[in-house]
Amino acid sequence: MSASGPLEPSTVLGVSGPVGPDEPSAEGSISRLIVTGGASLEGKVRVGGAKNSALKLVAASLLAEGHYRLCNVPRITDVELMSEVLRATGCSVRWEETESTPELVIDVPARIEPVAPYELVEQFRASIVILGPLLARCGEARVALPGGDDFGPRPIDMHVRGLGELGARFEMVHGYIHATAPALVGSKILLEFPSVGATENILMASVLAGGVTVIDNAAREPEIADLCELLNKMGANIIGAGSATLTIEGVAELHSADHTVIPDRIETATYLAAVGVTGGEIIIEGARHDHMAVLCQKLGEMGMRISPDADGLWALAPSRLRSADCPTLPYPGLATDFMPFLVALLATADGVGIVTENLFAGRFRYIDELRRMGADIHTDTHHAVVRGVERLSGAQVKAHDIRAGAALVVAGLGAEGATIVSDAEHVARGYEDLAGKLSGLGADVAAE
Ligand code: UD1
Repeated sequence: MSASGPLEPSTVLGVSGPVGPDEPSAEGSISRLIVTGGASLEGKVRVGGAKNSALKLVAASLLAEGHYRLCNVPRITDVELMSEVLRATGCSVRWEETESTPELVIDVPARIEPVAPYELVEQFRASIVILGPLLARCGEARVALPGGDDFGPRPIDMHVRGLGELGARFEMVHGYIHATAPALVGSKILLEFPSVGATENILMASVLAGGVTVIDNAAREPEIADLCELLNKMGANIIGAGSATLTIEGVAELHSADHTVIPDRIETATYLAAVGVTGGEIIIEGARHDHMAVLCQKLGEMGMRISPDADGLWALAPSRLRSADCPTLPYPGLATDFMPFLVALLATADGVGIVTENLFAGRFRYIDELRRMGADIHTDTHHAVVRGVERLSGAQVKAHDIRAGAALVVAGLGAEGATIVSDAEHVARGYEDLAGKLSGLGADVAAE
């Protein structure tokens, strides 16, 4: 690619390449998690706010000048990084202590600088969702190409194509996507795949576009419905939140608003898998069954009992689960982010389970780590055949991404002896005190 020139969607597909090198992606303060297996889990744990929602809500605040107060935002590295991205545009972002959880307070000035610098963007892929809001608010955006988790190429061609249909033009300049759109105009956009990030970027650009935008085959994740809710509070006019068709009537101006982030269904899945591995009975306070019904059904098929509880979600697990087949799909199917936990569960379940990863190529790297713990797993392209063994044995293993790292911790809870998960900075990108929360359920997990 030339250093500067028009950027076609296919070009962006080509430049993405594998992302997220092995080095820590941010200055997480932990480097290792040490797990000693054996204890069955009992008690209550409170789930935090959804990372994948909070990051987009913070980005959405760029759409209008004013004062925002976001509650239930997880204090994790990726949120700190997104806060830095906003500061680089001229916003003020700070935590404010309250009687319950701290709140993220954002002040967006009348003029912002439409730039997301490489030093920040290369550390986490979700930063690409700043493209839509900056374009809509400023008529231009200069965003470095994103990094992220280490599970294969993660192109942004659908983001570029969708924003292009609203009238944006793109160039690649010195490693930055330079997008310009003096006036965005509503359009009918059909996504070839219900991409979460592309849906969010197009949505955030379209709320200030002239006329009506329809996004068909939109992603339906609860985090997108949460984003729609904040945008509508800000004065946007979005119909169809949570469905595959989003209809957005553009407005001339938005205003600031306050919002509470939905609970993190992937963190919830982590605790469900943890009790599934060890056996026991837990309550996950604040969790929402309706955001993860297919996972709960699958875990039920494997022998767990899970039901909504007045406080959140109640789960009971026998000492050993049965295997089941697990294909990942866009929401409401089994999320790809649940997959590492399902593999960890199948590693010691009774029987054989086939896991099919339908979203990301190369998301099986952590399976080599599980094999080091004695797991019997055969992989072939996007399938993993997992033959359950009686027990894993603790070993030194490496976290390659957020969920893979957490899944190794989960596997360690049922293993004999100690499991040491290195490169645990990855885990800190998405979990607020995973070791402390699991310890509260009786597990032996320490962070250092
Ligand atoms: C988001 C989540 C991530 C989750 C994923 C799928 C955040 C911060 N991350 O990621 O945790 O695993 O959804 O549920 O919310 N694709 C293209 N071209 C594009 C965009 C996507 O080919 O322009 C492909 C991707 O390579 C992938 C699939 O579409 O194979 C799904 O990606 P997408 O839904 O966009 O995931 P993210 O938004 O990156």
